[in-house]
Order: sequence, then C-alpha cells, then structure tokens
Amino acid sequence: MYLENDLYSIDRKLLVKAVSIITRSMLENIAGLSGKIRYVPIKNTRLFEDMFNTFKDKRYTDILYPAEINLKIISYIRRIKMPEKILSELAYMKQLTPYTYNHSLTISVLAAKIAIDHSQKNRYSPDMALCLSLFHDLGKSRIPLRILNKCSPITSDEHRILKAHPLIGYVLLHYYFGKDCKSVAFSSFQHHERLDGSGYPLGIKRLNKYSHLIGIVDTLDALISARPYRKTPFSLRAAIDLLLDESEKGRFHKGLIHTLIRYARKEKPGTKLIIAKRGRDKEPSGNSYGKTAPRPRKTSGK
Ligand SMILES: [Fe+2]
Ligand SMILES: [Fe+2]
Repeated sequence: MYLENDLYSIDRKLLVKAVSIITRSMLENIAGLSGKIRYVPIKNTRLFEDMFNTFKDKRYTDILYPAEINLKIISYIRRIKMPEKILSELAYMKQLTPYTYNHSLTISVLAAKIAIDHSQKNRYSPDMALCLSLFHDLGKSRIPLRILNKCSPITSDEHRILKAHPLIGYVLLHYYFGKDCKSVAFSSFQHHERLDGSGYPLGIKRLNKYSHLIGIVDTLDALISARPYRKTPFSLRAAIDLLLDESEKGRFHKGLIHTLIRYARKEKPGTKLIIAKRGRDKEPSGNSYGKTAPRPRKTSGK
C-alpha cells in the first residue's frame, strides 16, 4: 500500500514520501521517531470540555441515558492520558474540520457506553473503547476539504483519495504512540472493514474487535448527522434499521446492533429482544451517503 502525497506529522516531520510503499520496517522506523513519549491527562484541556458537551447532543438523548451511566463514562474520560503531541493533532482537526472532530468525540462516548454493557460477554474495556475511537478518523485531517465538504456525490477519483484516511491515520498513530501504537493504530486502519469482507482498505473479514465496534458507532453517527451532501439526516430509527439490515447481511455483529436497539427502546441490556417484521423508516430524500457520482460520459472524437 502507498500514499499519493507526502505525509507530515503535526510538528512537520516527513513520515512518508509520496508513492513509496509502506512496509513493516518503515512503520517501525516511524514508531521510533518520537523518542520518549510524554503522556498527559486531558482533564484540564478543551478536549475534556468538548467531550463533556457530547452528552448535551439532542440527537443522542434516546441513547445516552441513564445519568448514572453517563457519569461513569465521564469518570473514564477524566482518567484519559494521551501523548502530548497528539493533542495538537486533535486541535488541528477541530480547526480544520469541526464535524470530524465532534464526530470523533461523540463516537468515543457511544463506544464506551456499548463497551460497558459488553464488558463481560465480549470483554470490551470501556477505557480502550473510549480512547481508540477518538483517533479513528485522524487521517481525515490530511484529506482535502473540497472532498470532505463536497455538497454533491463525490467522484470515484475523490472516493479513492478519501479512502486513504484509514491508512494515513494508521501511519500517524505509529508516530504519536511509538511502541504503544498497536491497538490504537488498528482502530484507524480497520474501522471501515466489515465482517463479510466488503469493507476497505483490505477487504478482510477478521477484525480487531475495537475497530469493529468503532465501525458500528461511526456508521450510526454518520447517518444521523446533517452533512453537506445530505441536509436531512436519517432518523435514529431509520439509521438503526439500516444497521440491522447490515448485520443481517453479515457485515456487523448482531449482538452489538441489538444493544443499540435496546437503548433506543429504553429496554434493559440483556433482556430478550423481540424484533418484529419491520416497517422501515425511510431514508431521507436526496441522500447520497456512500454513493459516488457517475463518471462523465466520454464523447467520441469522431
Ligand atoms: Fe472513517
Ligand atoms: Fe468516522
């Protein structure tokens, strides 16, 4: 795999030259570039305040409850420490693409909530879910804004550029986390992979469990958010119906989607879930999520 453009860290170190093949030894070198990494608590930063504000997001009032669980998640957030330099990356992302920044914070909180309910059976750690989710889209801060903010369906060439963000994030996370990069880097690299092999960048079926959890909450948040290409977002019901369809096709883990359904219905985790034949809520009109613009037709020279 390779990147089309030079990749720099936030402190202007050249990590990868354009079109050079990314190898294991190259990644090991990048992980060694930072030297000793200083971890700092986030509790006195703007990032902490911004994460705290996630709980006020009206789109999630039917999911982020009860107050005791939210307080538990906040106590996990208070304990987060992260490499000092990556705070500058997140501040840069906030300035460049506030949507991606807020989306990353939101899905961290959602992933932590699901991890709390699945800490026994699937052995998710809420701390890990919270931290790994924060960096899943780090690579988006190197994608041109004309693509991120495009109002119409992106072309297949633009889609190819956008699809580099998991790999860009993977490389950046090797730099910021050094030898501790293993699971955090996978959170970026695999979050668009799906269990049936239909995802990208590699189309693999065996996924890191945190990457998969991130992929689910990432899709939910993308669907219920207003985006330049889709002014009217999916309703929560329509978004969860779509996720359920995806789980029935073998792309998402059913148990995790059922947990989201329980939240939306305010049913207790672990109760038997009855899913009726659904009358699906409709997707919003003009939705171009996941669609690319048709290639312009070539006109014959003759
Ligand atoms: Fe992504
Ligand atoms: Fe995302």
